[in-house]
Amino acid sequence: MLLMKDFKDKVMFLTGAAHGFGRVIAIEAAKRGMKLALFDIDEPALKETVALLGDADVLSKKADVTKESEVNAAIDATMARFGQIDLLINDAGIALPGRMWELPVRDWEWILHVNTMSQVYTMRKIIPIMLKQKTHGAILNVASIAGLLDTPGMPAYHASKFASVGLTEATAYDLQRIGADIQMHVMCPGFVQTDLYHTEQHRPADYADASDPYYQSEAYLKGQQFAKYVITNGTPIDTIADTVFKALENDTFYILTHPEYNPLITDRVSRIVNNGKPDVHVMDGIM
Ligand SMILES: NC(=O)c1ccc[n+]([C@@H]2O[C@H](COP(=O)([O-])OP(=O)(O)OC[C@H]3O[C@@H](n4cnc5c(N)ncnc54)[C@H](O)[C@@H]3O)[C@@H](O)[C@H]2O)c1
Repeated sequence: MLLMKDFKDKVMFLTGAAHGFGRVIAIEAAKRGMKLALFDIDEPALKETVALLGDADVLSKKADVTKESEVNAAIDATMARFGQIDLLINDAGIALPGRMWELPVRDWEWILHVNTMSQVYTMRKIIPIMLKQKTHGAILNVASIAGLLDTPGMPAYHASKFASVGLTEATAYDLQRIGADIQMHVMCPGFVQTDLYHTEQHRPADYADASDPYYQSEAYLKGQQFAKYVITNGTPIDTIADTVFKALENDTFYILTHPEYNPLITDRVSRIVNNGKPDVHVMDGIM
């Protein structure tokens, strides 16, 4: 299998390009001479990203990744403009803290659509495009360390990110079975300083119901504070884009950015195979 080493003139399709990881990945891709197809629900911030990309060849459009029709339109627009897609990065994501039994069903559906179903929508359509191109392709799904480890307080985020990890691993098997020239990656970072705690600002109208008392409840307000605390106390974002491109160059499947969590991953696997169970005390001092 070839590796993605030379990025010049390759086409990247990126969701979540307006803020955080997406923005720094777009900047690094532009520096490497890639052609960029950038999508996000936040159009003004997406324009700010584009303004940072110098004279790169860029297609940027508003797209809500919870809607298959908007994802399909984004893919069609990319093919119409560039005629190919070499690198797919599924970065769009939201964080919704809240206990399993308190978080409204609409919020469960929202997070599963942004963090998981959007990756299904893009891959279902872009993998056949890559296979038909007969050129080397790469797909990187941004999951989270929350897709490898559980913690208290955000079961919906964990469910969406465990699904993203499983989806990426299982797709990698199927691509290997057919001998596809597509390298796969799943990124599993710990907390990084981004706008992720601003999730409420990206709530599509069809997932909103301001009359639901949940959004005035203490549980909701505490969840918002929790999200702000963990994200603002995360590590700086400056190494993220470099980490992404090194992983693409080296074919690193699991992209881990916070090695301090590795013992917890080992501990979880050990509990599974040794008839153990989740123990919240393991999280004392961590979450
Ligand atoms: N920051 C962290 O600590 C951290 C840790 C692990 C994983 N992640 C993951 O990294 C990815 C990027 O997050 P970030 O930290 O850069 O946060 P961010 O909020 O800065 O960026 C997320 C982007 O997704 C976009 N988005 C949200 N809903 C959308 C929708 N319906 N359609 C299209 N775009 C939408 C937002 O507008 C934003 O530009 C996410 O998948 C997140 O879960 C972040």
